[in-house]
Amino acid sequence: MQTDKVQIFDTTLRDGEQVPGCKLATSEKLVIAERLDVLGVDVIEAGFPISSPGDYTSVQAIAKLVNNATVCGLTRAIPKDIEVAAQALEYAKFPRIHTGIGTSESHMRYKFKASPEEIIERAKKATAYAKRFVEDVEFYAEDAGRTSNAFLAQVCEAVIKSGATVLNIPDTTGYCLPEEYGAKIKYLREHVKGIDKVTLSCHCHNDLGLATANAIAGVVNGARQIECTINGIGERAGNTALEEVVMILKQHPYLKLETDINTQLLFDTSKMVSEKMGMLVQPNKAIVGANAFAHSSGIHQDGVIKNRATYEIIDPTDVGVTDSAIVLTARSGRAALAYRSKKVGYDLTKTQLDAAYDVFLSVADKQKEVTNADLHQIMQHIQLRAGALA
Ligand code: KIV
Ligand code: ZN
Repeated sequence: MQTDKVQIFDTTLRDGEQVPGCKLATSEKLVIAERLDVLGVDVIEAGFPISSPGDYTSVQAIAKLVNNATVCGLTRAIPKDIEVAAQALEYAKFPRIHTGIGTSESHMRYKFKASPEEIIERAKKATAYAKRFVEDVEFYAEDAGRTSNAFLAQVCEAVIKSGATVLNIPDTTGYCLPEEYGAKIKYLREHVKGIDKVTLSCHCHNDLGLATANAIAGVVNGARQIECTINGIGERAGNTALEEVVMILKQHPYLKLETDINTQLLFDTSKMVSEKMGMLVQPNKAIVGANAFAHSSGIHQDGVIKNRATYEIIDPTDVGVTDSAIVLTARSGRAALAYRSKKVGYDLTKTQLDAAYDVFLSVADKQKEVTNADLHQIMQHIQLRAGALA
């Protein structure tokens, strides 16, 4: 089966780090960058070098450290930004400058107070200037999600002529619906001269909870790069979550799109980023949340114990989680109690299980979860000892 590769552009250290309270020291960023490289991301956006001396130093240190991934620095469409980014990336094995400008009505009118023609001129100049320093230049049309497709196509055509290698189509405000975002990518592929020479990139924000759906709509319609962050952290409601898009493509092979990510490192990487940034992962977060592979209702537990596939579409070991969790609560049935009891040394007969289950229910009704320690107490109550059973 012929599959196409989707490049994974990780912006945990740039868009992710913009989250209030998530600021990291250079040494912490280096640990994360090294992990991202091992994880198999294609591009690491290391920071916004002109924004602060600290960011400059971090981008420079990451550029020196990273062996496999392209290292990218963000700029505005301003010559000084581009010069500083080029300097910070000097030692990168594969450097990329990511430059751009707002293209929506509101950005042009209120942010830049510039006409569409002036915006195109600035976009072309910035791209051509970046090209003097590095071969690989990515252009972002900020707020592309709310930019008319016809104008966006003009901007894209102009920057391709100026040497852009990647075109980033950000849904900066998280406004688009998946169909709309997918149609935008399709429109660009059909209307922009030279589009076949460049990679189209999806950069989606999660203001309406659609960042992952939009990125997937983008690649289904021909984009071949997704910009994302570990745990979906990022400005406001966050960015597309790396672990989500990677697992969607893996679990839906008929899309014929794949990534180079070593999925078995996803859970540990999520934990590492969460700990370093002090950003908790919500328990019900897809793929990496504490409950993503936990089953608590009796019907589900019975199914999973019989065969994992009844209620799990992903094998937890594929994302680095050691096992599905059978959580004992008041909604658990005898199958779950027998399963967990066996794990702590009690292989119960039917009569013993019936006796244990009555005690279990009275314990479970009083607390949120029944732990292994509780199980030992329950067994003591019915006068059983671990390993000493029929
Ligand atoms: O959301 C956005 O538009 C961005 C750009 C700077 C790429 O983060
Ligand atoms: Zn963004």
